[in-house]
Amino acid sequence: MSVELYRPGLEGIPAAKSSISFIDGKQGLLEYRGIRIEKLAEQSSFLETSYLLIWGELPSQSELRAFEHDIRYHRRIKYRIRDMMKCFPESGHPMDALQASAAALGLFYSRRALDDPTYIRNAVVRLLAKIPTMVAAFQLMRKGNDPVQPCDDLDYAANFLYMLNEREPDELAAHVFDVCLTLHAEHSMNASTFSAMVTASTLTDPYAVIASAVGTLGGPLHGGANEEVIEMLEQIGSPENAEAYVDDCVKNKKKIMGFGHRVYKVKDPRATILQDLAEKLFAKFGGDRYYEIALELERIVEDRLGSKGIYANVDFYSGLVYRKLGIPTDLFTPIFAIARVAGWLAHWKEQLEENRIFRPTQIYSGQRDRAYTPLSER
Ligand code: CMC
Repeated sequence: MSVELYRPGLEGIPAAKSSISFIDGKQGLLEYRGIRIEKLAEQSSFLETSYLLIWGELPSQSELRAFEHDIRYHRRIKYRIRDMMKCFPESGHPMDALQASAAALGLFYSRRALDDPTYIRNAVVRLLAKIPTMVAAFQLMRKGNDPVQPCDDLDYAANFLYMLNEREPDELAAHVFDVCLTLHAEHSMNASTFSAMVTASTLTDPYAVIASAVGTLGGPLHGGANEEVIEMLEQIGSPENAEAYVDDCVKNKKKIMGFGHRVYKVKDPRATILQDLAEKLFAKFGGDRYYEIALELERIVEDRLGSKGIYANVDFYSGLVYRKLGIPTDLFTPIFAIARVAGWLAHWKEQLEENRIFRPTQIYSGQRDRAYTPLSER
């Protein structure tokens, strides 16, 4: 392979053909299966959107009813998984707990029949149904409490907030959370999706696929940025300090969390919707002093870095929404994962339809033909 073809991080290299989502980074457009994200955020639900992503079409009324029903009744996790999770250290990061629990599902549902549509559907249902239960269970168990069983009367988003907070959520809060899941459900090729596809291409089981994607999502340059946004707003402290903070970052070439994107060179359309959702929550439940800092920070970043195409990304306002919903900061990325399971599964299914194992090459840059020095001489 010639050195000219080499791009660190595979930047700009197409690694797959996909019909799942489309992004126009210059215009700030995102579509799932050809439908604009704004329409889905306004009119769809997370589970309907998941169905669309995975099977390529919006479900009929009866298909949606059956899908929602199956997910509702697969939310419980086996007591052995709960017991295993009880042994996790409470100081561990919830993303690590989620990665381990997702991988553990493979121990319980180990049959691998990747050419059987029923197996595929069951795996989709199990993963979408059980991942939120595992995130909520770890949250309660690390506080020393028993996990709360899913509530069959509540829909997907409301049930998650119920399992997390041990009480039924407000209707607006549940609706906003459901829209957040829709916004995070899929985003074409990116590090965690690629990770899922590489793992899928070996024809391993879907639980290993999701576990590897969860591990990749956790890093601060990917899903982990939403946590760091809140830490950054805390550190800035007040709107008056935002300018000095940005100038210091620009001078010292430090990344400002929640800004910049490999594809979007304008404001991320999901950030616009999330900002609107945050404002709806503030109107009902009262404001957040961090929002004032965020607004000023965004204004200054646009002024200083807008000409380089650096604008707010999805992670900038999502943390403010989750804060208002009473969700602890270190659960932000696991929540991103709950949503992104839909996109990962869509790519898993698409990968299986025309699978070829990912097996890139490398340019060797090490030494050759060295002498071996015996241990006694070193
Ligand atoms: N703050 C300040 N400068 C930035 C930022 C930022 N957030 N992002 C990019 N730049 C500058 C960077 O310093 C570089 O400047 P120069 O050309 O003078 O050296 C230029 O823009 C290009 O940066 P890059 O890192 O080569 O661009 P990239 O396409 O590799 O970066 C990114 C994309 C998301 C990794 C990066 O913007 C970043 O680290 N942002 C902060 C972390 C963040 O918010 N991540 C969430 C991403 S969106 C959700 C997701 O994908 O999971």
